[in-house]
Amino acid sequence: FVRRCTTQASNSDTVETSEPEISSSGDNHDVPRPGVDLRRFSDIQEERRQEALRSVLVRHVGKATEDELAKFCSHFGEVKSSFTYGNQELYTLLEYKSKGSVHSLLNTAHFRSVLEVLPYKSRLLSFRSSSWMNSTSKKSSVGDMTAEQKFSILATKLCAAQSMEEQMQVLVRETQLSEGETRLRFLVCSLVEDAITGYFPGCIVHPFGSSVNGFGNKGCDLDMYLNLNVEEHKPKKRNSFPRMEYEVKTVPTERAATQNLLSTVGQSLGEFVPSCRHVQYILNARCPLVKFTHEASGIQCDLTSNNSIALKSSELLNLYSRIDPRVPPLVYAVRHWARMHHITSNMPGGWITNFSLTALVIFFLQYTDKPVLPGIDALKELADKADTCVLEGNDCTLVSDLTKVPPSGNTDSIDDLLLEFFEFYSNFNFKSCGLNLRTGEIQEKKNFDALYIQNPFEQQLNLSKNVSMHHMEKFVQLAREAAWMAEQPDFLQPEVGPKGGVTPWGLVSILSGYNRRKRRLMDQKEFTPIFDSIKSGNPKRNSSHGNVGPRIHIT
Ligand code: CTP
Ligand code: MG
Repeated sequence: FVRRCTTQASNSDTVETSEPEISSSGDNHDVPRPGVDLRRFSDIQEERRQEALRSVLVRHVGKATEDELAKFCSHFGEVKSSFTYGNQELYTLLEYKSKGSVHSLLNTAHFRSVLEVLPYKSRLLSFRSSSWMNSTSKKSSVGDMTAEQKFSILATKLCAAQSMEEQMQVLVRETQLSEGETRLRFLVCSLVEDAITGYFPGCIVHPFGSSVNGFGNKGCDLDMYLNLNVEEHKPKKRNSFPRMEYEVKTVPTERAATQNLLSTVGQSLGEFVPSCRHVQYILNARCPLVKFTHEASGIQCDLTSNNSIALKSSELLNLYSRIDPRVPPLVYAVRHWARMHHITSNMPGGWITNFSLTALVIFFLQYTDKPVLPGIDALKELADKADTCVLEGNDCTLVSDLTKVPPSGNTDSIDDLLLEFFEFYSNFNFKSCGLNLRTGEIQEKKNFDALYIQNPFEQQLNLSKNVSMHHMEKFVQLAREAAWMAEQPDFLQPEVGPKGGVTPWGLVSILSGYNRRKRRLMDQKEFTPIFDSIKSGNPKRNSSHGNVGPRIHIT
C-alpha cells in the first residue's frame, strides 16, 4: 500500500492537469481531450527515464521514518518527489532534482560487510536511522488479500456509483497504475540497466506492454526490452587491403545470439544484482525471455531482447488509449471481465492474452457503424517524415502528434459501447473471418487458427496464434451471457438484498457473472440452467461451460 507520495510540480504534472494546448494551424484538429497528455509517446518515455535516472530506492531498516530519511537525503541535493510504499517493510522511491545528488548520496553510502559478493554500487539502498538498534521486530503482516476479497471491496465501490458509465470510470480509477507505481516501474528498469551496463555499455532497458500502453493494472507484470544499442552493422568494401577486423564470437542465428545474451544476463541478475530473485529462463519461446522477481518493488519482470517491434506495439496501444476518452474504460472493463472469468491468465497457454483482448476492443471500435477509432493505415497517413520508422524490415510508421487525429463522429456512451462489444463478438464468425486492425476491416481467414488477428506491424503473423478453440468458445459464450444479462429489465437497477446491502447491478453483474433472476430461482429452489442457452440457441449446452465466473456476494 502507498503511504505517502509528495511531488513538486513537474513538467508532466503540468501537462496532465492543464487543458491540452492545441495548435489551430495546419492539419491539427481542435479536439477537446481534457486531461489527456498530448505529448509524443517517445517524449513521455524519455522524461520518465530521466526521472528514474535521478531516483534511488531506499529500504527503511527498523524504525527509520520517512522524515528521518527525507532529512538525511536532503543533505545531498534538492529532493523533487518521494513515494513511500510497503507493508512489512517500507521502501521510499526518492527523486532528486539533479543526477549529481544521486552520485553524492552513493559516494557516502557504506558496504555492510566485506563478504558482499561484488562491491556493486546499486541505487537500491538501505537506510538505518540512529535508533535502528532499538527497533522492535517487524510489523505483523496484514497478509495478501485473496482475489475474492479484493473484488468484494471493488464491487462495493462500483455498486455505489450512480450509473454504469460511472461504474466503468470508477473501475479505471481503482485499478489503473498510479503515478508512484509507474515511477517504480521505470526505476526498476533503470536499476536493471545499471547492472547490465557494466558489461554492455550503452545498453538501455525500456519498459513496454501494460506498464506504458495506457491499460496497466496494479500488480501487472513489467515487460522489459533490453536494447544493446549496437551500431547497425554496415559491411565495408571487402576488397580493400590492408585492413583491421574485429575478432568476434559467431553464432548460427540471431535467435541463438538473443538466447545466449538473455541466459548470461539472467544469470548475473540472479547472482549479483540485489533484489533480483527466482530467475527463470524461457528461452525456447517464440520470443525468448527471462522471468524474475524484483523483491523490493514486488514486481514480476519479463526481460526480452531483440524485441523493438513490441515497444512499437505498446506505442500503438498507448496512442489508441489517448485518441478517445472512451477507450480506457472499455478496455479496462473487458480486461477485468476476462480475468474474472478466467478467459485470460498469467500462465502461458491457450488463453487469450491481454494484448489480443485489447486488439479485439480496438477492432470493434474501428468496425462499428460510426467508427470511434481510425485504422492503423489511417494513423500512418497522418505521420510526419520524422515519424518514419522501419523495424526489422517492417514499416512501423505511426503519427506521433495526437492532435492530428480527427475526432470521431460516434457519440455512443461507454456503457452502450461495452454492451455493443459483447453483442458484436457474440455473433462474430470467428471460423472464417479474421480481424485486420490496419484497415479496420474483416479479412478472410487463411488458416484454422481459433482466433486470427493480423499482427499490426509483422503483418504476416497472427498475434493470437496461441489461442485455443476451447478458450475461444468460452470467450464467445461468456460474451453472449454478458449481452443477455444486459437485456434484463432490472440490469441497471440497484436493489437492496436480504441482508441490507446492494445486490450486484450493471458492470458488477457482468464482471461477477451474478444474475439476479437465476439467483431468485435458485433461492426458490426452482432453478433450471436454461438461461445459458437462450442466446446460443443450443439447449443441450453443457452447463459447466456456462456461467463460470466467480460468485461474489456483497449483500
Ligand atoms: N506482444 C506481441 N505479440 C503477442 C503478444 C504480445 O507483440 N502475441 C507484445 C505487445 O507489444 C504487448 C506486449 O508484448 O503490448 C506485452 O504483452 P502482454 O504482456 O501479453 O500484454 P500486456 O498489455 O502487457 O498485458 P498484461 O497486463 O497481461 O501484462
Ligand atoms: Mg505484460
